[in-house]
Parts: sequence; C-alpha cells; structure tokens
Amino acid sequence: MKRQRIAYSLVFLFIMAVFSQNLVFAGESAKIPPPPLKYPQGELGNMVKLGEKLVMETNTQPLTKAYVGNDLKCTSCHLEGGKKPNRGSTFIGTAANFPAKGPREKTILTLQDRILNCFMRSMGGTRPPVGSKPAIAMTAYITWLSKGLPLSMLPDKPVSLFNRPFPNKAIKPFVKKADLKKGAALYKKRCVVCHGSNGQGDGDENPPLWGSRSYNKGAGLANNLKLATWLQYNMPLGDENLTNREAADIARFVNSHKRIGFNLRKRLPEASKMGVYNGQVK
Ligand code: HEC
Ligand code: HEC
Repeated sequence: MKRQRIAYSLVFLFIMAVFSQNLVFAGESAKIPPPPLKYPQGELGNMVKLGEKLVMETNTQPLTKAYVGNDLKCTSCHLEGGKKPNRGSTFIGTAANFPAKGPREKTILTLQDRILNCFMRSMGGTRPPVGSKPAIAMTAYITWLSKGLPLSMLPDKPVSLFNRPFPNKAIKPFVKKADLKKGAALYKKRCVVCHGSNGQGDGDENPPLWGSRSYNKGAGLANNLKLATWLQYNMPLGDENLTNREAADIARFVNSHKRIGFNLRKRLPEASKMGVYNGQVK
C-alpha cells in the first residue's frame, strides 16, 4: 500500500514538473530544460551522433576541419556541445527558434543557414555547402536538442528564448564607459590562468581569445556588448559571477587586441559549391 502511494506521488511530481516546464517556456528568463535522454534510433541517431562529434571537435574532424580557420570548435563557445544549460551558449531550444530573421543577412534563415554562417565568423573559415554531410549532421544534432519544445516562430528574434537576454541591455551603460585598465587587471586575476597572458590559450583545452587563431571581427563575440553578456553567463569557467561592470571592462580589454578582419565575399564558397542536393538520384 505504502509503496503504491509513493509511486502515485512520484507520477504526480513528474507530471507537475513537465507541466511547469511548458508554462515557463513562454517567459524571457525561462528555465532551461535538460537535453533529451536518448538518441534517436537507426540512421537518424547516427547522424545526430556524428553532428555532436563535429560540434565537439570541429577543427580536427575530417568532415569539418577544412572549413575552420582558427583553433576554435563550436563547443568553445557553446559549452559542452550546447548541452550545458548556460544562457548565451546552450543549443537547447535553439532549433525551436528557427526559421528566424537574421539581422546581418536581412533575410529569413533556417537553422542550417545559421549554423553554416558560424563557420565564416566565429570559426574564421569558409561556409560548408548547404546539404553537405557536416551541414546535415550538425543541424540534426542541434535540432535533437530541442526535442519536444514548442516552435517559437517569432518574427524578430534570432536568438533562442533560453539564450536571452542576449545581448543584455542592462550591461550596455557599462560597455559605453568600460575601463581598459581595470579590464586588464581583472583579466590577470580571473582569466589568465587558463587563457594565458597573451590570450593565446594553452594549445589544448583552453582556447585562444585573440590573435589569428581566435574568432574574427565578424563574429558575435567581437562586439563588446555581446562578449560582455556571453562572459557573464559563461566565464570564468566554473565560477561565472562577473558583475555588469566587470564583464564590460574585461570585454573591452579582450576585444582591444588584434584579430583577423572579416570580408563576407572572401568567406563564401564559389556559387557552384554553395549547395548540394543530398538525396539519392535514381
Ligand atoms: C567564438 C564563439 C563562437 C563559436 C566558436 C561558435 N559560436 Fe555560435 N554563437 C556564438 C554567439 C555569441 C551566439 C549568439 C548570437 C550572436 O552572435 O548574436 C551564437 C549563436 C549561434 C546560433 C543561434 C543560437 C540561438 O540560440 O538561436 C547557432 C545555431 C550557432 N551559434 C551555431 C554554432 C555552430 C554550429 C558553431 C560551430 C560551427 C558555432 N556556433 C561556433 C558564438 C560562437
Ligand atoms: C578554468 C579555466 C578558465 C578560466 C578561468 C576562464 N576560461 Fe574562458 N574558457 C575556458 C575553456 C575551457 C573554454 C572553452 C570551453 C570548452 O571547450 O569547454 C573557454 C572559452 C572562452 C571563450 C570563447 C572561446 C574563445 O576562445 O574565444 C572566451 C571569449 C573566454 N573563454 C573568455 C574568458 C575570460 C574573459 C575569462 C576571465 C573572465 C575566462 N575566459 C576565464 C576556460 C577558462
């Protein structure tokens, strides 16, 4: 009898948990749900797993490394392959936000477009063809991370609900009067152990923050407000507690260093390599 009652209350708690999760999804500061527990079966599951591998090892995997121009991987900024429930970096809920209007592209983007454009900016490389295996695999993986979540279909927001506020307007006044010297001092105190005194990283787990091996000037993080917002959610790794002022000062310092410029025409593949039909032709 007693065991049955416990079982009933567990079922009740479970239903409540699922229910409340759906309710908060509509809000700006919605709680981020966990990633799905199981991979899909069969060929789809294999594609999702391949996509995850490419997100984790973008600059070394044979299918993607030719399209990457620096030492970053998607997971360098989308922590734990986007599975970590950190704002500004999670991929949970991202697929539910597409299609969406891209402010840079001034057109409607699919999730695949959004992913491929990251290669030209954050990854400092060139755009893989639409419909290519890496494009399909990464899109399948990121879509899987939104399994069960309702589609947003919002007309104006290119960033998913779980990544907002992004950029965070509350940091804006601090970005305007950010202090380079204070940023340098804070960098020494909070970042240098992992990212090095020249922002070079350690050639292993800790990625470079500036110079030719980091994100270029076309990347989201090259914008001080976006970097400050991202830092507040995600760094220092394991100790994410920067104030608005600290995040703004450090962002100014990090982005005051040299990085590679961005020219869209040079990053796009030639027209004949822009896309492929990825189905079988009988
Ligand atoms: C240098 C950091 C960085 C790297 C590396 C990076 N991204 Fe991003 N990405 C961002 C930031 C910051 C945003 C937030 C949007 C913006 O830029 O305004 C973002 C946004 C996105 C979005 C939209 C997210 C949403 O919630 O709607 C997708 C999809 C995405 N990135 C995919 C990728 C993929 C796939 C890779 C690897 C090929 C990658 N990114 C590499 C920093 C990065
Ligand atoms: C404990 C080590 C550690 C500390 C401290 C730390 N980071 Fe990071 N940081 C990382 C790691 C590791 C990654 C890549 C994430 C991954 O691969 O899981 C990263 C990624 C980044 C990225 C995105 C990728 C890139 O290279 O551009 C930026 C920007 C960044 N950190 C800035 C900072 C700043 C600024 C501070 C100080 C406020 C800081 N980090 C503190 C370990 C650290």
